[in-house]
Amino acid sequence: MSENTIAFIGGGNMARSLIGGLIADRHPAVGLRIAEPDAERRDALTRDFEVQAFEDNATAIRGADVIMLAVKPARIADVVRELAPHIRDQKSLVISVAAGVRCADIDRWLGGESPVVRAMPNTPALVQTGATALYANEQVTDEQRDLAETILRAVGMVVWLTDERDMNAVTAISGSGPAYFFLTMEAMQAAGESMGLDARTAHLLTLETALGAARMALESHEDVDELKRRVTSPGGTTAAAIGELEGGDLAGLYRRALQAAAHRADELGHELGDQ
Ligand SMILES: NC(=O)c1ccc[n+]([C@@H]2O[C@H](COP(=O)([O-])OP(=O)(O)OC[C@H]3O[C@@H](n4cnc5c(N)ncnc54)[C@H](OP(=O)(O)O)[C@@H]3O)[C@@H](O)[C@H]2O)c1
Repeated sequence: MSENTIAFIGGGNMARSLIGGLIADRHPAVGLRIAEPDAERRDALTRDFEVQAFEDNATAIRGADVIMLAVKPARIADVVRELAPHIRDQKSLVISVAAGVRCADIDRWLGGESPVVRAMPNTPALVQTGATALYANEQVTDEQRDLAETILRAVGMVVWLTDERDMNAVTAISGSGPAYFFLTMEAMQAAGESMGLDARTAHLLTLETALGAARMALESHEDVDELKRRVTSPGGTTAAAIGELEGGDLAGLYRRALQAAAHRADELGHELGDQ
């Protein structure tokens, strides 16, 4: 893990996951600085991770090699404009996890020609099994790309995008994706209960099956279509269920759902960039 100083602006859910991951990855706590307006949240971060927490953003970023923007998307423009002179002086790398906010807009708010990495992590980062896509603008050096990747890899796997427009599809698949699986688990659990299982049994069987299927698919050399085929004997129980799901056009439903999420991500990018 790098010895670089990383300053977080915003000490909420995403910052907490990343800080937890970095500490677990043996990043020195002394190299992590957090700006957070809420005193209770500041105290909790200091208590839980022994990091330095500040009320003032400009104080938190002093001397930082990397500045992680982890406030809500609607606040990014004001935060970046306020810190721009300090960030330019220090030549810090800016990494934004804000959904929908484009690199070009952050660069413009910084005054132009600044290194900016945009990241789209997801909530399983909380348990170090996140999936993050990264995109770097032209000002980001190879060393800074490595640094950004190292930070986000502390909470899961990382992929790089060469076209920032793909962030909308990433948002639709992995950014919003955990909710689709929670919805599926909810539906499976309810179906199990409707057939007489008690809630706890239906819950555990559903979750362990989801975990087992994901782990098996990740560890297998076969693609998921082949894994599905292997558990679906003609005329068997799985075939009966799959027939119902395909009859309800599950693939079409997912295509339309992900297109709706990507479309909304694009709309948000335009709305946020107009600030
Ligand atoms: N959570 C996710 O799954 C996820 C996934 C991908 C990307 N993201 C992105 O991560 C970012 C943070 O999300 P989150 O879920 O961590 O939100 P969050 O829990 O609300 O955390 C944001 C924190 O920033 C603080 N804050 C507000 N204004 C500030 C300012 N001017 N300076 C410093 N701190 C300020 C907030 O305090 P107050 O509450 O007092 O305003 C809050 O503690 C968002 O941009 C989101 O798009 C999140």
